[in-house]
Amino acid sequence: MNLRPATPSDYDRIITVVDAWWTREVHAILPRLFLDHFHRTSLIAETPNDLAGFLVGFLSPSLPDTAYIHFVGVNPGFRGTGLARRLYEAFFALARADGRTTVRALTSPENTASIAFHQAMGFTATLATAHDGPGTDRVLFHRPLGG
Ligand SMILES: CC(C)(COP(=O)(O)OP(=O)(O)OC[C@H]1O[C@@H](n2cnc3c(N)ncnc32)[C@H](O)[C@@H]1OP(=O)(O)O)[C@@H](O)C(=O)NCCC(=O)NCCS
Repeated sequence: MNLRPATPSDYDRIITVVDAWWTREVHAILPRLFLDHFHRTSLIAETPNDLAGFLVGFLSPSLPDTAYIHFVGVNPGFRGTGLARRLYEAFFALARADGRTTVRALTSPENTASIAFHQAMGFTATLATAHDGPGTDRVLFHRPLGG
């Protein structure tokens, strides 16, 4: 399994699998701009034949202490093997190298797998009512990057 920084062209592979990997329509919340402008801080996990997983993240341009993970997905055939943990730890390392001290992410309250995953990864979860507008609650995650 190889981990590498993403390139803008990885978008075309990612966008064709996200709805299947999430088992619901999520492609609209991953527009191409994320890979065009944040590929250097995003990661691809692949085998010679398969896209195994990806992480889309960035170093906040407005909050100098913060790194943000927008999306992580692991191919269902590679789940439960620690791949998402590896992607997160690689992102934590690049964020620390830039002096970031906090990582943030969010999910919808219905995504119980994401909540369990983030708690296993040491994130604190907080419910934010109407975070993304009236009727759209989110679970906000944060984790100090220390060490
Ligand atoms: C959530 C997801 C990324 C986890 O990927 P994964 O590679 O299977 O996760 P890992 O094997 O690295 O697991 C890391 C830790 O999270 C825990 N975890 C992962 N998925 C879990 C689940 N569904 N329920 C409970 N715990 C879970 C693991 O037990 C593990 O804990 P441990 O290291 O303490 O033993 C994957 O299921 C996925 O792609 N889901 C669909 C997309 C999605 O919802 N992404 C997250 C929101 S953007």
